[in-house]
Amino acid sequence: MLRSAWSVRRLVSTTVAGKRALHAKTTPFPDKLAFAFDIDGVLKQGHHNVLPQAKRVLRFLSGAEGRLPKPIPFLLITNGGGIPDEERRAALSRELGVELTENQLVQSHTPIKEYVDKYKDKPVLVVGGKGENCRRVAESYGLKHPYIPQDIIAWKPDIWDRTELTEEEKSFVRPADFSQIPFSAALVFDDTRDWGRDITLILDLLSSDKGVFGTRREGHNRADLSGDVELVMSNADVEWRSSWPIPRLGTGAFRLCLEATYKSTTGLELPYKQFGKPFKATYEFSELMLRRYLKQVGRNSNKELNVYMVGDNPLSDIDGANRFGWNSILVRTGVFHDKHGEKPSHKPTVICDDVEKGVEWAIQEELRKGNL
Ligand code: G3P
Ligand code: MG
Repeated sequence: MLRSAWSVRRLVSTTVAGKRALHAKTTPFPDKLAFAFDIDGVLKQGHHNVLPQAKRVLRFLSGAEGRLPKPIPFLLITNGGGIPDEERRAALSRELGVELTENQLVQSHTPIKEYVDKYKDKPVLVVGGKGENCRRVAESYGLKHPYIPQDIIAWKPDIWDRTELTEEEKSFVRPADFSQIPFSAALVFDDTRDWGRDITLILDLLSSDKGVFGTRREGHNRADLSGDVELVMSNADVEWRSSWPIPRLGTGAFRLCLEATYKSTTGLELPYKQFGKPFKATYEFSELMLRRYLKQVGRNSNKELNVYMVGDNPLSDIDGANRFGWNSILVRTGVFHDKHGEKPSHKPTVICDDVEKGVEWAIQEELRKGNL
């Protein structure tokens, strides 16, 4: 039974932002509807700035306000990262005012957990993030020998003498004789804080002999001879929306610099494995999480779902969702804007001002299509 556009429009706009409830008996319910929300530029603008629309929308969808006959499933998919998933889940639950379950958060490195299991007994260099947080991420994924750049600098400061360890960094370094430690991988789990240092150390490993710092293998600049160290990157975003009104450089820009310096010093293309949006592995993993969540809340985890990805970055959120067959909603609260008639690099299902307008549009669309 389809209701006329007007009454549905009034229903929805008074529902999300207003106080009216969707009663099962009287109101069609979009039973196939599910959402995937990007974080930076959609729910937040910078670490401390949660958008008010975000709180309203998530409280409404979670049924926390008793205005839905049952919650509308959603999860958060971010190219951000740099702290253990459980800590980020707890922090976001506090900030957003809804209790997220462990199946409702996918950080850039969350889908990598299974992929890096092969390194659990091997020394790896974990790069990015604040302090030793990314080491703790690696340990939370079962990696037993995660070293960070500060450990290497503490061993031989001359390896990169442009920056010195702070007292705080000296407090968490793990001393070791790295002339005896063969690294198997370099894992970039978040935006790095010292590009010069980290580019140098990653290039050192990629050109090293069997992953040992302070060595350079013969033929390191020959395309036919590959090295022993794998480079894995979790976030491809060249730009992202922080609290500053103009997009900032992200881990993708760091990778571009890594590629350029590797090319200039070896003549070779940088060998690396990329995760994060828009890559398929992240969306496949997220679909799995969404179905685990459905099971967790006692719903049919195999049911047909119409997932709407709400994102601010056409290159990651929209491209990835489109290629994965999800609907995509591009908002104007982040990287993308069309003040001067700009067209997004990847065409979304719809463009909306913000996450609240996006959710209202998706509910209308599902009811209009009779997806009840
Ligand atoms: O570093 C985070 C940034 O790349 C974007 O994060 O939440 O917009 O995917 P998000
Ligand atoms: Mg974003």
